[in-house]
Amino acid sequence: MGKGVSPSPERARVAVLLSGRGSNLQALIEAQQRGTLPVHIVGVGSDQPDAPGLLHARAAGIPVWARAPRDYPDKAAFEADLRAAMTQSQPDWIVLAGYMRILTAATVEHWRGRLINIHPSLLPRHPGLHTHARVLAAGETEHGASVHFVTPVLDGGPVLMQVRMHVLPGDDAHALAARLLPLEHQLLARSVALLVAGRAQLQGDGIVYDGRRLDAPLQLNTLVPALPG
Ligand code: GRF
Repeated sequence: MGKGVSPSPERARVAVLLSGRGSNLQALIEAQQRGTLPVHIVGVGSDQPDAPGLLHARAAGIPVWARAPRDYPDKAAFEADLRAAMTQSQPDWIVLAGYMRILTAATVEHWRGRLINIHPSLLPRHPGLHTHARVLAAGETEHGASVHFVTPVLDGGPVLMQVRMHVLPGDDAHALAARLLPLEHQLLARSVALLVAGRAQLQGDGIVYDGRRLDAPLQLNTLVPALPG
């Protein structure tokens, strides 16, 4: 391997789990390639061997592990294999980027404090699925995405950072999803950058950011007060 392409040893090692399209993975790859995200993406895992997102990983030369849970006796066995595969690449951080299965408590515990998820809503509003439709059904005027530490409560762990956008007249769920996605990409790259810089840690049931307990999620944009620091 030429000198220019060797992963620098001091870079944080990041593994990504996905189930689908993988645009958030691609955003991390591009941020890393642009030089704005000092990480080494060491592995991608999936519960969907045909996930389109795996193409992004392969194109970037990232090792891929992808197996169907139905090929295992149970979820615990599948996840034990998933954990073992990811552990081989020695990740410092594990990013759920469109990973569509609820992880078992054993896996969440195994990666506690190093496991984050991107979710397309302003948590704690709308955990779970169909967030865009639910925002519209509730008549809300604001929508967004959250990056949070994963705990055993579905989409319930402490939120590190959010990005917000207005709901516009005439928006349907498709329009909301399309407008939110590029914001998600920025949110995820920025969140990972903060984490690998050592600026935020999970502590108990909260987050310590720059040495102080975070009272409310950081905000990437300015619909509300700007990102501190
Ligand atoms: C994103 O909306 C993310 O917030 C959610 O699943 C979607 C994944 O999109 N958890 P992609 O696979 O990264 O394109």
